[in-house]
Amino acid sequence: MPDHPAEPWRIKMVEPISTTTREYRERALRAAGWNPCLLRSEDVYIDLFTDSGTNAMSDRQWSALMRGDEAYAGARSFYIFEQAVRAHYGYEHVIPVHQGRGGENILSRCLIRPGTHIPGNMYFPSTRAHQELNGATFHDVIIDEAHNPTCEHPFKGNVDLAKLQAVITEHGATAIPYVSLAATVNMAGGQPISVANLTAACDLAHAHGIPVFLDTARAVENAWFVKQREPGWAHRSVADILLALCSPTDGAVMSAKKDCLANIGGWIALRDPELAEQARGLVLLYEGLHTYGGMAGRDMEAIAQGITESVDEHHIRARVAQIEYLGHRLDTAGVPIIHPAGGHCVCVDATAVLAHLPRTALPGQTLAAAVYLDGGIRGVERGTVSAGRDPATGENRYPPLEFLRLAIPRRVYTQSHIDHVADSLIRVHTHRRTITHGLSFTHEPPHLRFFQARFAPTAGTSIYTT
Ligand code: F0G
Repeated sequence: MPDHPAEPWRIKMVEPISTTTREYRERALRAAGWNPCLLRSEDVYIDLFTDSGTNAMSDRQWSALMRGDEAYAGARSFYIFEQAVRAHYGYEHVIPVHQGRGGENILSRCLIRPGTHIPGNMYFPSTRAHQELNGATFHDVIIDEAHNPTCEHPFKGNVDLAKLQAVITEHGATAIPYVSLAATVNMAGGQPISVANLTAACDLAHAHGIPVFLDTARAVENAWFVKQREPGWAHRSVADILLALCSPTDGAVMSAKKDCLANIGGWIALRDPELAEQARGLVLLYEGLHTYGGMAGRDMEAIAQGITESVDEHHIRARVAQIEYLGHRLDTAGVPIIHPAGGHCVCVDATAVLAHLPRTALPGQTLAAAVYLDGGIRGVERGTVSAGRDPATGENRYPPLEFLRLAIPRRVYTQSHIDHVADSLIRVHTHRRTITHGLSFTHEPPHLRFFQARFAPTAGTSIYTT
């Protein structure tokens, strides 16, 4: 068994959730076009759709809300927020945005020109969508191991430096506005990047005059893995490692809805004062004034407090261990998951579970439907549906990994909830052959299609033969 520390918190307030019957869930899922994303949350028992904005705030964060200064300009809460980001992430210029993709929009608009190229350690849908909307082409330069679900590499988020060099050589440094890195890598299953590799990737980019921007949404979880796995870092604090991850980069885009234990918010953090001035100008247009960026003053207070709590080692240890526990239970029951378990999620290999369905029948989406029907659990497909179509050819992209992501909100579910999830997944896996049909699109939106798409079984009226 992995080390499974008991939760370093007790429950002060509860939110009732209710179980439903299978018959009820069948009706609900049909009404949602077989897309769990379109379910009402009331119809979900354990919601593992995302760890984003779904965290439980602490009593101290709720108290901080009351201190929110809602002044339009120059709110006290902004300066508290700015100070917390500077102290823990180490960037000078801190520009608030309403959430991560607000920051992605601004950074992409500032730096990208049509026909340019952006290398990165695997794509994230909203990040790549903004890069493509501004005319860039994304190039995946992550190590090959990241695409292999059974490989146990400790840092599957690492950049393959030869691949990065090849993109620079092929397109020329002037056609590369920046390198887009993430810590951890969500689409690889929450896999970390090592400090050594991140630093080497920055050195390589900088040698060609190319800046590097880091997606820090889950950089604290990444820092925890560095402490556990990277030689030389075991005795450093998670807070120190977080600073070490950010230090070689030129800036960061942040969704505060993840590591920061908040329900909304984000920022862009930069070192270059001129780029910061340009970004503030666009924040005024798209987000709000540069001292609130679409957030209420109280949101900035909750984030500032959440940042401090996020680097507390009792918190981060228990958070990651809960995911490890779920991974371990699935693994020992023979459910194929991506190895090792990630920082925020366990990913079930849908192409392995539903190996009898073709990729065109969307096994990831089908598995998401089956798990909701069985246990009232909502996960999200990370495969063909999430990958969308190639903007140049219009063809579906079939990424090497196609999985059902079970993302665990922070401080929300107890171990018995996690056991319910494991039991249900094991049941679905045991009876996988009863899933005889996949799904196909009946409605396909042009951008981030997984959120609003609707589906129907490829034959008959169900994914099961009735
Ligand atoms: N970057 C990463 C790595 C993310 O995981 C997300 C969001 C974003 C950027 C965008 O941030 O949602 O605040 O606008 N990920 C969520 C998820 C939605 O479920 O993985 P946002």
